[in-house]
Amino acid sequence: MKMRVLITAGPTYEPLDPVRFIGNHSTGKMGYALAETFAAEGAEVVLISGPTNLPDPTSPTIRTVRVQTADEMYRAAAAEAAATDVWVFAAAVADYKPAHVAENKIKKAGDTLVLELVKNVDIAAELGKTKRPGQFSVGFALETENEQAHALGKLQRKNFDLVVLNSLRDAGAGFRHDTNKITLLEADGQVTIFDLKSKAEVARDIVRAVLARLPHPHA
Ligand code: CTP
Repeated sequence: MKMRVLITAGPTYEPLDPVRFIGNHSTGKMGYALAETFAAEGAEVVLISGPTNLPDPTSPTIRTVRVQTADEMYRAAAAEAAATDVWVFAAAVADYKPAHVAENKIKKAGDTLVLELVKNVDIAAELGKTKRPGQFSVGFALETENEQAHALGKLQRKNFDLVVLNSLRDAGAGFRHDTNKITLLEADGQVTIFDLKSKAEVARDIVRAVLARLPHPHA
């Protein structure tokens, strides 16, 4: 049986009105590199991608689903979750969305504008509640202080098996860089620190770590 992998990638865009949105600088590169690497290992991949400038991966075993908002990303991921063996939550999902989306372009008025935001669905945490034995969930954590403690807190809250910690303290790591420096943390307290590497090499390290931890060989 082929291993089936679900990956979320890129930012989400949360509309304010027909021409504006709240978003972030995620490029999607890490999630796309993971999709290519899992496919190269023989997996069937569903890549659920927020808006990025990257072309759809060309591998015939990667199906790309394009979404805009966190709600759309959640619906697309939830539709695939039960039928996939490995989940990788690499998307930088907007934590909040505008409480109201204006039907028409918001006109300039007054010196200040207050936006009301409401919490978005936590895709990883919601799907984590449905995880069955044998399914494996990987999350990302971007932290600036108490990094390992915060990353482990996310692992527990979102029912991850493995969390990839990106530290913003490391030069060259994170958004808008082609390199990343990661630490892998596991539920049993195991910690593995990697050097600064290209995102393609980081993807290989993550995929190898996942494959080594799966209950039985798949691909
Ligand atoms: N995540 C998600 N849905 C969200 C928010 C986060 O699926 N609405 C996933 C991310 O893809 C990542 C992990 O959860 O794998 C951690 O994301 P992060 O933004 O670091 O965590 P938050 O829960 O938003 O915590 P905080 O912003 O307080 O650090």
